[in-house]
Amino acid sequence: MGKNFSTLDDFNFKNKTVILRVDINSPYNEKTKKIETSDRLVESAKTIKELSKKEAKVVILAHQGRKGDPDFLPLKQHSRLLAKYVEKKVGYVNDIIGEKAVNKIKGLKKGQIILLDNVRFLEEEIKNKTPKEHSKSQLVQALSPLADIFVNDAFSAAHRSHASIVGFTKVLHSVAGRTMEKEIKSIKKIITKMKISKHDTFVLGGTKPDEPLNVMGHMLKKRTLEKVLVCGVIGELFLIVNGYKLERVNMNFLKKKGYLDYLPQVKKLWKKYKKRIEIPLDVAVEIKRKRKEFSVEELPKNSQIMDIGIETCVKYARIINESRNIAMKGPAGVYEKNEFDLGTRIILEVIANSKGFSLVGGGHTLSALKKFNIDKNRFSHVSLGGGALITYLSGGKMPGIETLMK
Ligand code: 3PG
Repeated sequence: MGKNFSTLDDFNFKNKTVILRVDINSPYNEKTKKIETSDRLVESAKTIKELSKKEAKVVILAHQGRKGDPDFLPLKQHSRLLAKYVEKKVGYVNDIIGEKAVNKIKGLKKGQIILLDNVRFLEEEIKNKTPKEHSKSQLVQALSPLADIFVNDAFSAAHRSHASIVGFTKVLHSVAGRTMEKEIKSIKKIITKMKISKHDTFVLGGTKPDEPLNVMGHMLKKRTLEKVLVCGVIGELFLIVNGYKLERVNMNFLKKKGYLDYLPQVKKLWKKYKKRIEIPLDVAVEIKRKRKEFSVEELPKNSQIMDIGIETCVKYARIINESRNIAMKGPAGVYEKNEFDLGTRIILEVIANSKGFSLVGGGHTLSALKKFNIDKNRFSHVSLGGGALITYLSGGKMPGIETLMK
């Protein structure tokens, strides 16, 4: 990678102001209202620490959640968590491009670190625009004149062409941070070792269907992916297009999230590739606070689907065991609740034990690994990115990486 990208080794950071984009988007506990500490925080802290040690003035940009979701939050808690791992104060500024932020940046002394607020509070951030267009955004226009260099350490958001990911690269010298460098090097190495251009099996779960559906469509069409095992919200969408009547509580959730809009895409995928897509055979629901399993043919009234059932686990496990390489993004169910962590636990254990190459990733998948105490060394690679990992493996666009190319 050193050949194609500049890294932290290629620049003298002393007394320089650095705009550092990290991805510390972390699981959020709605009950305690707390952000969970995450591997993304731990790994990003390494880059921050190195920059501070090199006497840079470090201005961190990051996001948390998506607008409308309960985890769409300011970054105050993240600054405290980061400080713990950087072992130094990380000042939180509840501003991004206003006077407050500008004055804080101007007042920074070498080695000092500040974290600006959730960059997605700016509407323009998530517009899917080109680097050139984003270089004209308010964010880049306001902050780039105050900075000497841009460091992108957000591999897990590198599949987004968002303002803070691509906009600065047009106006500032730009390099990859350590997390970005490590992810790309490791994934490239595994792909080279696999010696095959085709991926065997993807397990696609979690609560964000957008990337998985796009990646599936692309790879199944090009025949670069043999089999997809769906679970989580994506599994529910495939059950609907198969005519299974999901209860109101599930439908309301999917509707509120806007996920029912994906049904035409799911229908098309199913119609074209049904032989290569496996859908849940049974699910677990919560009845009187207990886990109860039902075949998808007999879904019970008024119960929310919380996990895949054991028959599905057995079927998916058999397919994983027969695969030479497996990638997984997103948990199979609500792994945070002990009663409903079985599907995610079994699938991760089976992948960890498999003889094939294994890549797993994503914020919640990492948090599940931690919960189950599964050693990360049992996988070929554990990525901080979920959507980013599968997009990268599929050969899809990674604007955050492309804009770092020399
Ligand atoms: C992730 O959690 O995958 C990254 O932080 C990107 O978040 P997004 O899917 O909301 O863009």
